[in-house]
Amino acid sequence: MKIEYKVNAPVSTDQFVELLKASNLAERRPVDDRVCMAGMLANSNLTVTAWWGGKLVGIARSVTDFHYACYLSDLAVHADYQKCGVGRQLQVLTQRQLGAHCKLILIAAPAANDYYPHVGYQSNPRCWVLDRDQCISR
Ligand SMILES: CC(C)(COP(=O)(O)OP(=O)(O)OC[C@H]1O[C@@H](n2cnc3c(N)ncnc32)[C@H](O)[C@@H]1OP(=O)(O)O)[C@@H](O)C(=O)NCCC(=O)NCCS
Repeated sequence: MKIEYKVNAPVSTDQFVELLKASNLAERRPVDDRVCMAGMLANSNLTVTAWWGGKLVGIARSVTDFHYACYLSDLAVHADYQKCGVGRQLQVLTQRQLGAHCKLILIAAPAANDYYPHVGYQSNPRCWVLDRDQCISR
């Protein structure tokens, strides 16, 4: 059996949460908030998934306009399948869905900070985040 990749295939909330737990990304996502997790899946508009038989083993979940910017919100590979090229292939297939000028943007988890330069990303010191519990300053 080999890993099968799918674009925009249905993923259940349970499958998504189980994968985040199995990849350790659950530490940095609100996996106990079912409404949030379901909403993350329902409202992303580009999802590339990796499957081993019927088992979800990888996901690249993005929100994009397909032309200018693609925010890669979650990249996760099941721990048993890491460092086999799955993460790289999920990003290759994500990029293939995008227009010629569309850039990928993400916030790295601390443990993955050395991964992204390894696969070609450049860090941007001008990336800014406004948390939901903060307001725009006047
Ligand atoms: C980070 C992650 C998505 C990478 O996926 P992966 O399938 O394991 O990575 P790949 O097999 O595609 O790796 C491609 C290359 O990067 C290297 N690499 C993998 N993880 C790395 C890491 N954490 N740091 C540095 N290099 C890494 C691989 O050794 C490989 O190198 P090579 O091309 O010289 O052989 C995966 O390890 C993961 O899910 N980690 C836990 C969740 C997480 O932190 N996700 C990122 C959120 S921003």
